[in-house]
Amino acid sequence: MKSIILVGGMGTRLRPLTYEMPKQMLPLVGVPMIERVFEMLSRHGVTEVVLSLGYLPHHFISAYPDGSIAGVKISYAVEPEPLDTAGAIRFAAEHAGIDDTFLVVNGDVLTDLDVSALVSFHRRSGAEGTIAVHPVEDPSRYGVVVTDDGGRVRTFMEKPRREDAPSNLINAGTYVLEPSVVSRIDAGRKVSIEREIFPALAGAGTLYAMVDDAYWLDTGTPATFLQANIDVLNGRDSERVLPDLVGTTWRHSTSRVAASAHVVNAVIDRDCVVGENVVLDGVILMPGAVVHDNVQIRSSIIGPRAVIGATSVLGPTCVVGAEVSVADGSQLSGEVHLGGVS
Ligand code: GDD
Ligand code: MG
Repeated sequence: MKSIILVGGMGTRLRPLTYEMPKQMLPLVGVPMIERVFEMLSRHGVTEVVLSLGYLPHHFISAYPDGSIAGVKISYAVEPEPLDTAGAIRFAAEHAGIDDTFLVVNGDVLTDLDVSALVSFHRRSGAEGTIAVHPVEDPSRYGVVVTDDGGRVRTFMEKPRREDAPSNLINAGTYVLEPSVVSRIDAGRKVSIEREIFPALAGAGTLYAMVDDAYWLDTGTPATFLQANIDVLNGRDSERVLPDLVGTTWRHSTSRVAASAHVVNAVIDRDCVVGENVVLDGVILMPGAVVHDNVQIRSSIIGPRAVIGATSVLGPTCVVGAEVSVADGSQLSGEVHLGGVS
């Protein structure tokens, strides 16, 4: 079965890191996040993916010059301008000549969803579209779904206010669709699958949902991107061996960390330097980041080649962009995003 992976969003909530790198190419414990999505699909027998691109497409194309990831063949559908989620699906489906049941995945989601079960559920119900749904505490950041007992979707509401959310079941960002869904999407304009197409399918009674409560995380915010890394450090991804893991810290062999540093739940990528008496707790240092002596950082992401001045105290939850210098003695907390367009 062919799959479309949507990776054309601008990743605004992870700025400034996403000014220079699309979010799905940001490293998750040293490996671009998109590779984990491919590994998951490959485990469910997917052999062919159309990457639906628009924003900074060259990062994907140049990273995988042989046109495959995890043994899955890739083709690239690059939108001339952002078409939003449904517009992107139509564009990619036409690009790849999709004329049979197909899969769509939001490329920023990490999950152990049983995709094969989702496909079987879709075939059994005879639906036009089937979405995986996942229970969460606060559904307001997501698409919220109400079904009847047989799984037929009654209501699909994108990002309602928390008090208006009709359930706590959210769109988990994996869909099985029939080609007839593509013909419901207008060509050449922005169309949102969540705001236009799913509500229309729900109205027609041809949209179904399957509940799955396996591991699920949308990595698109600083807090969830950090969580995704910490989950891998704590053994979530047991199939992949992490050779440089010590306790719950992954440290690339080219990095230098002072013996007096206290480090837990941290990713220290290649060519980083960590000074004396530094405390890192729940921190990602991207390649080439430098942390000077006596700094304390908690729950924060430090971008490539950024420099954190001595005695600074950062987090939670700071996002420091590529090559930004934080002055000695800085104190930053709350969601702070440092750095602009590079
Ligand atoms: N090609 C293309 N073109 N891709 C796009 C575009 C576009 O114009 N806009 C967004 N995308 C991609 C993003 O890169 C991402 O992988 C995916 O579509 C979803 O976009 P997000 O911006 O991450 O959406 P969200 O997280 O706010 O909400 C979506 O995901 C939730 C689950 O994670 C919605 O689908 C919600 O309903 C859902 O609950
Ligand atoms: Mg998202």
